[in-house]
Parts: sequence; C-alpha cells; structure tokens
Amino acid sequence: MSHSSAEQLEIFLDIATEAALAAGAILKTYWGKLEAVEEKGRPGDLVTEADKYAEAAILKVLQRHVPEHQILAEESGRLGDTNSKYLWAIDPLDGTTNYAHQYPFSAASVGLIIDGVPQVGAIFDPFHQELFRAAAGLGATRDRLPITVSQTSELRKSLLVTGFAYDRRETKDNNYAEFCHLTHLTQGVRRSGAASLDLAHVACGRVDGFWERGLSPWDIAAGVVIVREAGGQVTAYDGSPLDISSGRLLATNGYLHDSLSTELLRVPPLESWG
Ligand code: IPD
Ligand code: CA
Ligand code: CA
Repeated sequence: MSHSSAEQLEIFLDIATEAALAAGAILKTYWGKLEAVEEKGRPGDLVTEADKYAEAAILKVLQRHVPEHQILAEESGRLGDTNSKYLWAIDPLDGTTNYAHQYPFSAASVGLIIDGVPQVGAIFDPFHQELFRAAAGLGATRDRLPITVSQTSELRKSLLVTGFAYDRRETKDNNYAEFCHLTHLTQGVRRSGAASLDLAHVACGRVDGFWERGLSPWDIAAGVVIVREAGGQVTAYDGSPLDISSGRLLATNGYLHDSLSTELLRVPPLESWG
C-alpha cells in the first residue's frame, strides 16, 4: 500500500468537508418539502429529490477538485477512472427513511478509500449542525475539536446501536436475533436509521459500539476512519480485518471489542426469545 502524505490527506479532508457541507445545505432546503418519495426496489428503500440533488452537489465538488479520481455514489453508481487508487464513497443522504418521515436524524457522508483502505471521512449532520471529520494519522474531530471513543469496558454497562438492512424480510440473516441477544446483555441497543451517524457517535463516545450487516461502502467509508482516528476499533464480526465490501462490520471503543465479537458469534436462535 502506498502512503499519502499528511498534507495530501488534509487537502482531501477539506474536499470531503466541502462536499458534505454542500449536501447538508440541500438536505436542509428540501426538509419537509419533498414532492417525490419513491421506492428504489426493495420495500422501504426510498429515494427522494433531496438524495439526488444532494448527490449532484457532492459530485460537483469532487469533479471540480479531483476529476481524475474514481467515485462510488449511492444514487449514480461508479463514475470516473476505474484504474485510480482513489475511490470516493459517497452517501448524499444517509437516513432517507428518517428524512422522508421528518424524523431529524440523517447526514451526508463522504469517504475516501485509498488502495482499498478508508483514509479520509467527513460526515455532516445538518439537523444538529455537527460536522465529524478524520483522516488517517491526523485524528478525529467534531466541529473541529478532537473527539475520542468512550471508556466503557463491560457489556452490561454499555449502550450500543445497530440497524436492519432493506433485505431484512428476505433473509433470516436479518440481525433480529443479534438485536435480541445484545438487548439482554447491555443497557440498551438503539436503532437510529443512519449508519454513518452511528459510527460518528461511536467515535465521540455517545454509544460504545455499533454492528450491522447489509451495509454498502458509502454508508461506512467515512465513519470507519472517524472511529479509528478517535481511538476505536473497526473489524469484521469475528475481529478479522474489515472488508469494506462485505457489508458487515463491528465498530467499538476498543475496550468492548472482544466481548462484543464473542457475543455476535454465539447468538442464540430467534425462537429462544419471548
Ligand atoms: C441506510 C441507513 C440505515 C441502515 C441501512 C442503510 P440510507 O442508509 O444507514 O441506518 O440500517 O442499512 O441502507 O438508505 O438511508 O442511505
Ligand atoms: Ca446509507
Ligand atoms: Ca442514502
């Protein structure tokens, strides 16, 4: 893997920030004014004009600054030079279901994967006016102030967050059993509806851990860097190195990583609850 210099990463971080803020402004503009809410394929997988216009705003920023890079955008797919080692993974509106229902918990997420490793991320939550940022080796911030993960080291004292992918009605591997198991073992498991913010909230210590399956690189690329730079750990469920295209990840404050990984690997079947 080749390394980008700190100065280079800072430039990319500023580009990611500009793009996330531009998308966030659009999310504010269309809030409560949606005219077109459509299903993309699976029931509940929504797309609105806010997703499309926010994505266009991000693409405009990237095309101005880094036209030679590759892009993976949720609504537009793959764009740019497929041979480039730089891949921007962008989610213009993470939390579309929340947004369409006017539940104010959504964000724009812009991540840069270099040689297969997420290295730069900016996540902007326009409803709480919070900007989370990080680049490899440069630390993580919220609103430009350093953040760190929590210090909770026992599952029974922890607060976790998770989510359920749009294919949840089609597969038994839908995270329901994991949700029950960990709800019993912890102080609670939240389901926020915006994976990028779930990661950002692990990074700043609001929750102690997050796991989910069925995610896409655009949901997590930015958040993975932010958690790692805030001192947390992000891996596959079994603790092995994260494969960002597997859709499955475990992100924690580090202290809980082994115990949460152990529990995810020994989840009792759903029938044993209730
Ligand atoms: C979704 C959210 C949600 C997660 C889903 C994602 P979208 O993204 O991040 O929290 O559970 O798996 O697809 O569709 O709102 O961009
Ligand atoms: Ca998303
Ligand atoms: Ca989205």
